[in-house]
Amino acid sequence: MYIIRKSFELLYDYLKSVIFAVTKNDPEKAHEVFVMFCRALYKAKLDKAFFDYPKNTEFKRFEFSNAAGFNKNAEIPPYVLYYLGFNRAVIGSVTGEPYGGNSRPRCQRYEATQSIVNRLGLPSEGAQKVAQRLLRYEASPIPLTINFAATPTKKWDQITEDLLSTIQIMKNVKKVDRFELNISCPNVSSSAEYEIEALDEILSSVCDKLEDKKFFLKISPDVDKEYANRIVLSAQKYKIAGFVIANTTKRYVKKYIPQSLWAGGASGKAVYQYSTDTQRLFENIIEKNNFPQKIIACGGIDSVKKVKERLSSVALGIQIYTPFVFYGPKIIRSIKTEDADRRMETG
Ligand SMILES: Cc1cc2nc3c(=O)[nH]c(=O)nc-3n(C[C@H](O)[C@H](O)[C@H](O)COP(=O)(O)O)c2cc1C
Repeated sequence: MYIIRKSFELLYDYLKSVIFAVTKNDPEKAHEVFVMFCRALYKAKLDKAFFDYPKNTEFKRFEFSNAAGFNKNAEIPPYVLYYLGFNRAVIGSVTGEPYGGNSRPRCQRYEATQSIVNRLGLPSEGAQKVAQRLLRYEASPIPLTINFAATPTKKWDQITEDLLSTIQIMKNVKKVDRFELNISCPNVSSSAEYEIEALDEILSSVCDKLEDKKFFLKISPDVDKEYANRIVLSAQKYKIAGFVIANTTKRYVKKYIPQSLWAGGASGKAVYQYSTDTQRLFENIIEKNNFPQKIIACGGIDSVKKVKERLSSVALGIQIYTPFVFYGPKIIRSIKTEDADRRMETG
């Protein structure tokens, strides 16, 4: 098993350079190739052989999941994510109705600084299709989170209904036990303009319909202290379980994003410091008020060292997207077994 897994990791490293080269002008294609590969493994029932690995982790009760955007339409079967080493899978962002997003290319890769800028604009096949796809798979061995957002074509007075339709469709899918509302997509005006008053109105309707499902808010790393204070109070008011911190940033640091072709959201190393600072900001507010909300850390977490930096009394787990793109499947093993991590940091 070990040999197969190692070979797969080496294959990823080798193929990565080829695939990065041929998808230079449209990096989204590289993700499509990866998704196709995962689906083929699942169909051939080879996913287990390739991905199973020992569970000797010091972060035993800590959640490890992919971040939203990695499996937008649930094309990667949850079983594959489980064998990759995740103990929770995030699907989405799912929108109520199908939506195409911005025109391509809409993603830039910065290999030297392990960062990405994307302006996908929330493309989604829509809740109905995503639910049907999930139902066709073998039931997931790990819990599922549905990250969802309002269909970008909806007007303000239609947003609540659109979000409720997604909850209605997705909540009966087996293993879905959590919803994560994306209120921080930098690439659509409907998310960027989530003012607290409007959000409160939405939450008052949405939180009522969740039954036993947990509810999280996905936060931007670009929020200020006042916004953070107000949103934590809203979370307390509507019994929200916590926050995913954070989404991509609109603040580009030259060191990581030397030149960008367009405005979008930066992730990977480019967002690490901002997402860490935002996490601390929220933690302080939660702890000061003795509130029960938890935090799921996200943004440039690519080593055990960084996982440890993001551990705290209120942290529930971590989510990963961009570091997976650059390191491949070994990122998960590296975090679960410090040995591989040391290798990554030096090599
Ligand atoms: C190509 C791409 C697409 C993304 N799509 C979504 C999305 O649909 N919904 C969402 O909440 N976050 C989305 N994100 C943000 C990630 O979930 C994550 O918050 C961010 O990238 C920081 O984590 P990372 O550095 O591990 O990638 C996307 C990120 C990337 C790079």
